[in-house]
Amino acid sequence: MKKHILIVPGDGIGQEVTEVGKKVLEKIAAKFGHEFTYDEALIGHVAIEATGNPLPDETLEKMRASDAVLFGAVGHPKYDNDPSAKVRPEQGLLKMRKELGLYANLRPIKLFDELLGASSIKPEILRGSDILFFRELTGDIYFGEKGRKNEGDTAYDIAEYSRYEVERIARKAFDAARTRRKKLCSVDKANVLETSRLWREVVQKLAPEYPDVEVEHQFVDSAAMMLIKDPKRFDVVVTANLFGDILTDEASQIAGSMGMLASASVGDSTGVYEPIHGSAHDITGKGIANPLASVLSAALLLDISFGLKAESDAIIAAVDKLLKDGFRTKDIADETTPADKILNTQAAGEELLKRI
Ligand code: NAD
Ligand code: IPM
Ligand code: MN
Repeated sequence: MKKHILIVPGDGIGQEVTEVGKKVLEKIAAKFGHEFTYDEALIGHVAIEATGNPLPDETLEKMRASDAVLFGAVGHPKYDNDPSAKVRPEQGLLKMRKELGLYANLRPIKLFDELLGASSIKPEILRGSDILFFRELTGDIYFGEKGRKNEGDTAYDIAEYSRYEVERIARKAFDAARTRRKKLCSVDKANVLETSRLWREVVQKLAPEYPDVEVEHQFVDSAAMMLIKDPKRFDVVVTANLFGDILTDEASQIAGSMGMLASASVGDSTGVYEPIHGSAHDITGKGIANPLASVLSAALLLDISFGLKAESDAIIAAVDKLLKDGFRTKDIADETTPADKILNTQAAGEELLKRI
């Protein structure tokens, strides 16, 4: 198969982990006889430094012209600590999602058996957890009107959803539930928010079309608690942009680390595959970032955008083998991990490549 993949590393550890993700794609192409070509483009802080724009037109054009995008992360402490900054790396990410119509963000919470001990949650609570989040990605409080009034003393961000926006993400979640354990949990705050009441109304209206799927509605506060108390009760979860952002960082602790969670952002055009984590300034440049979220994002890319299931499975199997062989990056190591099994980003990538 011939495909063109755009690599967009972005900032901080985005650079470090995407390098490994790309090597994995190269290895898969060689092993399975595919012809993947690559290009690179700037986004985030590095793009602001080079062009003044967090999402240069050139990057967007390259994204549109590619068959898939492997994305790293954006962000820099310079902006995090300067609320008055008008141009910010995150604007690049949000604009990319909007411009490409990436309304569905799939965030699988996949727990590898070997990492049962890596979480701060008890193994007996975790064992068997397997959740697929559908986070709506181009609406909600992220994209509504925002601003200041009263000479800057009052700030507002408007949360807004239209029926079709809820319906299209809910349908994707229903469809996915059908291929899994046939359970769908829709998470909202319908006891308070009008957007959530619309959300719940739309999901309720769709439910009769999917009689084989068991639907439940949960309030986000309670869902946040249940995720830790009893993660196994969830199969597919569908939720709004902001709730999905928060709940999936929480859910990363089911999988052991932020460094384990991959995602697929899909919708109207080129799919973008990205770890759920950010640029992680606290560990940038130390070479210790866990590259597996990027590697597993590459696996999602092959499966979802290219339909290459065997190739995708080969990556997941290699990750499984790496962990079974006892190798860990620092974030997923514990007191039982021997020092010689704790690998840096690059070494973890090399060991992984040997297992594909
Ligand atoms: P973060 O996800 O970057 O980091 C949170 C914590 O998880 C940190 O302690 C970090 O060291 C750890 N971590 C994250 N990824 C890891 C990995 N692969 N291996 C090992 N440890 C890992 O979140 P943050 O610190 O709140 O944000 C830092 C910056 O990233 C901010 O500027 C934020 O806006 C940005 N951000 C970007 C994205 C994105 O590009 N998709 C996502 C989240 C945050
Ligand atoms: C993510 C990030 C982004 C989000 C930020 C950096 C805009 O946290 O991809 O999860 O909130 O969507
Ligand atoms: Mn996030």
